[in-house]
Amino acid sequence: MWLWTALLLWVPVGGQEDPTKAVITLQPPWVDVFQEEAVTLQCEGPRQPGDSSAQWFLNGTAIRTLTPRYYITGAQANDSGEYRCQTELSAPSEPVQLQAHRDWLLLQVSGRVFTEGEPLTMRCHAWKNKIVYNVLFYQNGKAFKFSSQDSELTIPKTNVNHNGIYHCSAMGRYRYTSAGVSVTVQELFRVPVLRASSPLPLQEGSAVTLSCETKLLPDSPPLRLYFSFYVGNKTVQARNVSSQYQIPRVGGEDLGLYWCEAATEDGGVRKCSVVLELGVLGSQAPNPVWFHILFHLAMGVIFLVSTVLCWIIYKELQRNKKENLKVSLSSDHGKNVTSYLHKDRYVEKELKFQEEKELQKEAHQKSKEGEGQQPKDEASPPALPLRPSARAHVSYN
Ligand SMILES: *[C@@H]1O[C@H](CO)[C@@H](O)[C@H](O)[C@H]1NC(C)=O
Ligand SMILES: *[C@@H]1O[C@H](CO)[C@@H](O)[C@H](O)[C@H]1NC(C)=O
Ligand SMILES: *[C@@H]1O[C@H](CO)[C@@H](O)[C@H](O)[C@H]1NC(C)=O
Ligand SMILES: *[C@@H]1O[C@H](CO)[C@@H](O)[C@H](O)[C@H]1NC(C)=O
Repeated sequence: MWLWTALLLWVPVGGQEDPTKAVITLQPPWVDVFQEEAVTLQCEGPRQPGDSSAQWFLNGTAIRTLTPRYYITGAQANDSGEYRCQTELSAPSEPVQLQAHRDWLLLQVSGRVFTEGEPLTMRCHAWKNKIVYNVLFYQNGKAFKFSSQDSELTIPKTNVNHNGIYHCSAMGRYRYTSAGVSVTVQELFRVPVLRASSPLPLQEGSAVTLSCETKLLPDSPPLRLYFSFYVGNKTVQARNVSSQYQIPRVGGEDLGLYWCEAATEDGGVRKCSVVLELGVLGSQAPNPVWFHILFHLAMGVIFLVSTVLCWIIYKELQRNKKENLKVSLSSDHGKNVTSYLHKDRYVEKELKFQEEKELQKEAHQKSKEGEGQQPKDEASPPALPLRPSARAHVSYN
């Protein structure tokens, strides 16, 4: 009777908000137990003052117990099933799947379905509470935790990566392996995406609104999300119910790498967007940087080529000078040697200067035409006009 009253009371409220649901808690907290073990279910939810009743359902049918605690002293196979409860002013609770097993080793979990952010506890439990050690916990067949003594494990904040089938193995007299237990973690809301109201890069001085877009997933409880906006590591808008951040006039100080975070009220679940670069038309760095690099590269190449050429010419001149000296000595022009050398040096200098000028011009042209393509013919110096030895020789012999 009160159930109908409750329903009638709830309907007008409805539409947007779920009535408060009752909640079942287990003591001990495991939804998987061995047969003959004890477990107590407790129903919590809003009630009229002075009322302490609760309605229990197993596999959808009401059971006679009307107390807020439901005791199972020695679980039997027929205690397995889907439990729900309801208090006078509550909606029916989420179901709890209780399972009574007969096995050597049992992986006990604190629930099979979670919303992300909730804790998950599991225990590798042996029949008759026998002591086990060297416990391994597996997720989807892959061991993720070893414990030599402790057979209990807690994941304080679940997320979708914790979905999967868990089992454990442990050492007693032998190494035992439990059956698998499926655990589902439901996502509350999507990872947010940060968007700008106008295309990027922006016009300097224009207004822009950044939106931190995310979606509550259909099965999620009605939540209020809080949004924060950051540029680099600096907070520009902290924890606001508004998912938007406004920049009325974009200036140089507003540019940078923006990202946002959506979080539940208690901060239990937080998700960050990827970074969005806010830039302004014209003032972007890429062009000047690119230009500078190219310019310096070109200058470098020119410098290198001309240095190499100068060195080659210098070597060549040295060689020719030695030859000249030899020639003049051997042909008995001994007296002239000094003046010859002196004059020769002068002519050489002249020639060298001219050569360098020409070569540099050439190098400039080359590096302008084909960048960095080191011409092979430059290994031997350019031909005729630059043969100092020939001319010098002629003029002195
Ligand atoms: C399970 O079966 C036993 C008898 O075998 C019975 O006493 C008990 O009430 C049953 N429990 C449920 C929940 O049906
Ligand atoms: C409840 O349903 C489950 C399967 O859905 C079944 O294994 C179990 O025996 C049922 N329990 C009762 C008491 O009918
Ligand atoms: C934030 O960034 C600035 C420079 O970008 C740096 O000097 C500062 O140490 C950073 N602060 C933190 C807390 O990382
Ligand atoms: C939240 O954002 C709105 C609009 O951007 C602003 O008016 C309000 O002051 C903000 N509240 C807090 C607490 O920062």
